[in-house]
Amino acid sequence: MTNNEDAFKKLGPNTQLVRAGYDPFDYHGFINPPTVRASTVLFETAETMEKHDQKYTYATRGTPTTDALCNAINELEGAAGTILVPSGLAAVTLTFLAYLSRGDHALIVDSVYGNVRHFCDTMLARFGVDVEYYDPSAGAAIEARFRPNTKLVHTEAPGSNTFEMQDIPAIVAVAHRREAIVTMDNTWATPLYFRPLDFGVDVSIQASTKYPAGHSDILMGTVSANEKHWRRLKQVNGALGICGAPEDAYQVLRGLRTMGLRLDRHQASALEIAKWLELRDDVARVLYPALPSFPGHDVWKRDFRGASGVFSFVLKVAGKEDFKRKAHAFLDGLSLFGLGYSWGGFPSLALEVDLNDRHILSPPEEGPVLRLQVGLEDVADLKADLERGLEAARAA
Ligand SMILES: Cc1ncc(COP(=O)(O)O)c(C=O)c1O
Repeated sequence: MTNNEDAFKKLGPNTQLVRAGYDPFDYHGFINPPTVRASTVLFETAETMEKHDQKYTYATRGTPTTDALCNAINELEGAAGTILVPSGLAAVTLTFLAYLSRGDHALIVDSVYGNVRHFCDTMLARFGVDVEYYDPSAGAAIEARFRPNTKLVHTEAPGSNTFEMQDIPAIVAVAHRREAIVTMDNTWATPLYFRPLDFGVDVSIQASTKYPAGHSDILMGTVSANEKHWRRLKQVNGALGICGAPEDAYQVLRGLRTMGLRLDRHQASALEIAKWLELRDDVARVLYPALPSFPGHDVWKRDFRGASGVFSFVLKVAGKEDFKRKAHAFLDGLSLFGLGYSWGGFPSLALEVDLNDRHILSPPEEGPVLRLQVGLEDVADLKADLERGLEAARAA
């Protein structure tokens, strides 16, 4: 393993994933890092304790296990520093607490993950931050939304559930000219398919619950900052005492080693299923940036290196009064796709998307929106399952 960032960058993505974050010869050659369960760390002398003159001081500030994961994410993101938090949602909320103060104005993309919207509308509002939602297609036109007190622009591309792409470089150019920080929830792409900091984003956020953990059994989030914004992030992390647990960090690092292979498979299966759905008469539209028919496809192709395995489709339904009944019939007709939240794990999942909290974007008129997380099963089995669901919807 090399600590040389340039040499590391030249390695292929799967080689990077296998080696990132930890040198086996830092721990007797063992290929995985130890799981250090800790609160207290001892100091040898009172003077060392007073000066905090040693690498580890207390486990909220990091352990060898959490450091191994943070180092790995730094390498993958090209970041100055990364913090761990107990969920993807906490990764976004902590970021907002780090960079926003009373009286600030924040621009939040309207296709943002729903629980983040809830945080903005309740806690940020209570703390006196003025939140405004903007259209994900804004690009450079976001400038019209800027006010003298605009301090932060939050992006998420593609957007939650409806997968709108965003012109990140155009937004970054405006935001930096107006001295605002740009944050991005990059959970869908992971740094393998998009590296936000390379495109000028200041803070890159991932719900490691999804693809990095990969097995539907861990909750964790990472926040990675560039040089300019790292200090503040680290300070706020320390002040809040919100940290990731070593056991979970170990599992996420373990997941990272195979994330490239899993993503390849999620992508190939999702694309095959998306193309198959698109040709069906009972499907109005498929919302997946990797499809040439999708409005954000050109931006995706320009900036991203791949597409992960989550997308939605709009079922074609005669009238609005049938939306709920048909959506439920489809979901209840599935047996391999489980009905459950989250994504990025090994099993396929499905749900009906609720778009009623959107401020700017309007829900599709043609029918209910159904989101699929395409898992690692055989694609022929998944298609047969979807066929059963669609048949059930037709019959309902
Ligand atoms: C885009 C996005 N960001 C963040 C999160 C939150 O992650 P977690 O479930 O770990 O809180 C989710 C969860 O579904 C998500 O879809």
